[in-house]
Amino acid sequence: MCGIVGYIGSRQAQDVLISGLARLEYRGYDSAGVAVADGGQVVVKKKAGKLANLSGELEQQPLPGTLGIGHTRWATHGLPNDTNAHPHTTEDGRLVIIHNGIIENYLSLKAGLIERGHTFQSETDSEVLAHLIEEAYAGDLEAAVRAALAQVRGAYGIVVTHVDHREIVAARTVSPLVMGVGEGEMFLASDVPALLPYTRDMVFLHDGDMVVLHDDGYRITDLQGNPQERPIDRIDWDAEAAEKGGYDSYMLKEIYEQPAALTNTLMGRLHDDTGEVNLDISLDPTAFKRISVIACGTAYYAGLVGEYLIEQLARIPVEVDVASEYRYRNPLVSEHTLAIVVSQSGETIDTLEALREAKKGGAKTLGIINAKGSSMTRELDDTLYIHAGPEIGVASTKAYTSMVGAFVLLALWLGRARGTLTDAQAQELLRATRELPRLVEEALNPARVAEIKRVAEKYAQARDYLFLGRGVNAPTAFEGALKLKEISYIHAEAYAAGEMKHGPIALIDANLPVVVVATESHLLEKTISNVQEVRARSGKVIALLSDGDTENAAHADDVLYVPRAHEMVSPVVNAVALQLLAYFTATYLGKDVDKPRNLAKSVTVE
Ligand code: F6R
Repeated sequence: MCGIVGYIGSRQAQDVLISGLARLEYRGYDSAGVAVADGGQVVVKKKAGKLANLSGELEQQPLPGTLGIGHTRWATHGLPNDTNAHPHTTEDGRLVIIHNGIIENYLSLKAGLIERGHTFQSETDSEVLAHLIEEAYAGDLEAAVRAALAQVRGAYGIVVTHVDHREIVAARTVSPLVMGVGEGEMFLASDVPALLPYTRDMVFLHDGDMVVLHDDGYRITDLQGNPQERPIDRIDWDAEAAEKGGYDSYMLKEIYEQPAALTNTLMGRLHDDTGEVNLDISLDPTAFKRISVIACGTAYYAGLVGEYLIEQLARIPVEVDVASEYRYRNPLVSEHTLAIVVSQSGETIDTLEALREAKKGGAKTLGIINAKGSSMTRELDDTLYIHAGPEIGVASTKAYTSMVGAFVLLALWLGRARGTLTDAQAQELLRATRELPRLVEEALNPARVAEIKRVAEKYAQARDYLFLGRGVNAPTAFEGALKLKEISYIHAEAYAAGEMKHGPIALIDANLPVVVVATESHLLEKTISNVQEVRARSGKVIALLSDGDTENAAHADDVLYVPRAHEMVSPVVNAVALQLLAYFTATYLGKDVDKPRNLAKSVTVE
């Protein structure tokens, strides 16, 4: 995450930057910083912690100037301290940058820059950008930024200024950037709400766009310098709609954020060339004999996918527990146990207490966590952050798919380290994993979404639902049922498909919609047999099938096609369709999806 703001015009830049950053603090609050240009100098002020720390100081000692850039940080590389806060500058302080994203190849770039005489102040990946631009600078800032970005691999929203130029140069790849167009002034930000007090005319920059801002206009090109045309959109959202990015709810916004969230989860961690995964954790992958995964709710279902993946790919025995049970069942823990806690908030009391229980027994501990600095992260030996960004909707969506993405990474990492995956297998899985953001984007294409809406509305009056899935997608069925019940209040049961005939089959009649996750898998034939059993009892089958599977479509009443994915990563792609099914059912029934009754986002009481 991270939030960025830029301003050039006739107002005091500091005021615009601070008010913009205040509206972007949801994107991170590990530190905040601004750089303001005044005549022949650029002055930087930055502080660890919330924006209030910085704005308090600036109130006492304002920075005069009408051109500036500002940043609020969600730390990825380097501690959340003053030095690692943005903006970053070159040694002579004449060039300043802010960055949102992750530079994947920063270590090799940094080594080269140090060899060529550059000195680094921070531990961040971002600082390499300042030095690369400086190295390429020969009087033309735009050209220097272009040359620097050509060397960079990763995600960035970058904003740059230089004492010798009254201009701001910005560019984006993956990370968002929107430009505000004013009268004799121009703005930049990571998100619309930051700019709404100043202008409603916005240009949404596309991936690979570069823009140069002057007081009275702007010029957009691609990264090679070819001119690009982008429309100016008039934004008429009110403040609340703006926070939801124009979506009707945070939940829907977060469903659509999944390609970006997954990109952030995977970013910098996959090395296709070597088939290696880099998780930046100190855990010794050979120092334990068994794994206990502990979590609640949706995070627990992510853990069930994790169990399947780790056992398949790394051949380590895994058990998964609901945290509220684990902590009271006197679990068998030893120094040969790795306890993995999974949590979006990092605050769920049952999971936190279960973590303490595991530590008491001598387990090594690893967290798969979203919220930086949360209580669990302070007690864990190691944390694998999912970097999904803030999740506000009570029903978890993007955190779930990113948690599953993190388990894919972990299973690969363990498999490589313990020698259970060959180079070829690892490379194939790495490629499949890299595809995930694109496949999820494809799962969200308007035609698919419209079909899910149609099916949701067709069955919205059902009193009960049944969800079935097998293997790595059994948890997909569990999670689909949980989403439906928590936001639509329709009762939903979920079973591993093979278990149906041992009881739940008695529920089936002509009024029962049965969602069957039947995407490409080595168990597909068996799943289709279960579909036949439902049909034979007049149940209504809603089948999730892989694109192109027309043969099995004949067995279903309704089909939701999803993009084809490698079986091991398919739970990520399949979950999206079931989130939307729940979402459209609930909104059709007039429910408040962001605040379902009786629920809280973070459960900090037992
Ligand atoms: C369901 C949901 C909850 C949470 C559970 C754990 O959509 O959001 O089931 O998954 O309360 O929360 P975290 O992940 O914050 O520990």
